[in-house]
Amino acid sequence: MNRLISPALMLMISLPVGVALAQPIGDPIAGQEKSQTCIACHGANGASDNPAFPKLAGQHPDYLLHALQAYRSGERNNAIMNGQAAALSDTDMRDLAAYYGSLDPALGTLVRDRAPE
Ligand code: HEC
Repeated sequence: MNRLISPALMLMISLPVGVALAQPIGDPIAGQEKSQTCIACHGANGASDNPAFPKLAGQHPDYLLHALQAYRSGERNNAIMNGQAAALSDTDMRDLAAYYGSLDPALGTLVRDRAPE
């Protein structure tokens, strides 16, 4: 009996997991709406002119999600971002990661590439 149930159970368990993994990390449109508080530092297009604020545009969504989770858990320590991430739900983080990951990585310019003023 067990031998018959096990493969069926495995299929029932693995199918939804496979479907979940195949889905995008989050909703970029919702992420854009949630990004209003991030703009002040990271810039309107996810590529701030200020080198103190990392460029998020075009970064891998997986990386962005893990960074946000690490800030919220305290695994990654930064006074500003620990506070920012504390206010975010898992869904918020996924949507924000999808949004910033969808932006053009060519946006913004490195300071060292600019002509001196
Ligand atoms: C008050 C300024 C400020 C605000 C607002 C802010 N950030 Fe940040 N963010 C920073 C700073 C500074 C760092 C670099 C911290 C470090 O060195 O770990 C950073 C780092 C990050 C990183 C890691 C980037 C990397 O390359 O590892 C992510 C992801 C991020 N922020 C996302 C967000 C999101 C999403 C929001 C809005 C919910 C947000 N930030 C709001 C200042 C800010």
